[in-house]
Amino acid sequence: MKTLVVYDSAYGNTAKIAEAIAEGLGTKALHISKFKKEYLKSMKLLVVGSPIQGWRPLEGMNQWLDAFSGSQLKNIKVTSFDTRMKVFFHGDAALKILGRLVDKGGSKLVDPKVFFVKGKEGPLFDGEMERAIEWGKELGKKL
Ligand SMILES: Cc1cc2nc3c(=O)[nH]c(=O)nc-3n(C[C@H](O)[C@H](O)[C@H](O)COP(=O)(O)O)c2cc1C
Repeated sequence: MKTLVVYDSAYGNTAKIAEAIAEGLGTKALHISKFKKEYLKSMKLLVVGSPIQGWRPLEGMNQWLDAFSGSQLKNIKVTSFDTRMKVFFHGDAALKILGRLVDKGGSKLVDPKVFFVKGKEGPLFDGEMERAIEWGKELGKKL
């Protein structure tokens, strides 16, 4: 596997965005629980996303990131995304995730991307799935 989208999700909206990014990129999306470190062997690009909860990524995503050693993502391009609400104090998950991926040796391909839900459990705003597919295509071209 040369590219992969890995996500965490509480209500399924981030999972849908991850699937759409993967569709655009021509790869698959995996929940963090399905990820195996051996997938990193031939990896060129890792795209990682989580919803924002309490201004930060889900705890499961934080733990998943913690499990990588200091330089384990060396030679792998990385980027990230999150889903969030259109509120004033939204916090950030995507930037935090990208920072952690770079700390683990990854090199940033592009800035993180954000996608919006209408309420805590969703649904996604209209057009977000299309935007995610488009972003996946752009990532593929940049690689
Ligand atoms: C407990 C809780 C805390 C949340 N905190 C934030 C927040 O700080 N900022 C924000 O923009 N959205 C927040 N949200 C909304 C989530 O971002 C939203 O539930 C998420 O995008 C949905 O994605 P998911 O279906 O993949 O879980 C929160 C939601 C919950 C349930």
